[in-house]
Amino acid sequence: MRHKRAIKIFAAGVIGALLLSTGAMTWANGNTEAEPLALQKIMQDQGIHMQQITDNISRENWQLVAKIAPLIADHSQPPLVEKMRILRFVGGDAGKYKNYDNKTYQAGQELRQAAERQDGPLVVSAFATLQQSCLACHQDFRKPFQEHFYENR
Ligand code: HEC
Repeated sequence: MRHKRAIKIFAAGVIGALLLSTGAMTWANGNTEAEPLALQKIMQDQGIHMQQITDNISRENWQLVAKIAPLIADHSQPPLVEKMRILRFVGGDAGKYKNYDNKTYQAGQELRQAAERQDGPLVVSAFATLQQSCLACHQDFRKPFQEHFYENR
């Protein structure tokens, strides 16, 4: 009998803990309901363009690769007010941040040129360089952006 009672108490404890944690989660969600940056949508488009490029590399459709690469190089910019918010946040790292964006720009241009020459191996290595440029910025800035613009508000 004592055993059964212990199980009951344990079960009540588990349910209590679950209720508490869902409560905490709701609170946390309420706290992170910040409007996504326009940058986030721009980045999602960059991701889609990268997928389209891998698909067209597989098909050796160099013409389409050459058409999509500049969309990545010359991606649209967030509105001025958001740009200012971003620059204020990155502060002393603004040069570093812009430099990463320039690297993506250059890599996108090189990818286009390789595709125009229909040079498959060069396209593949230019694409790898482009991916490196995305990763480099993400490794330095994605988490701080998310913490600053979405979590600590
Ligand atoms: C100069 C910095 C920088 C460069 C370069 C960069 N990104 Fe990003 N990216 C970010 C930041 C900052 C975020 C987080 C934005 C946010 O959560 O609002 C992000 C987020 C993303 C996301 C996630 C979006 C989402 O829905 O949460 C994707 C996908 C993405 N980037 C794709 C790319 C691709 C592809 C490239 C290269 C072609 C690239 N990015 C280059 C800074 C950069």
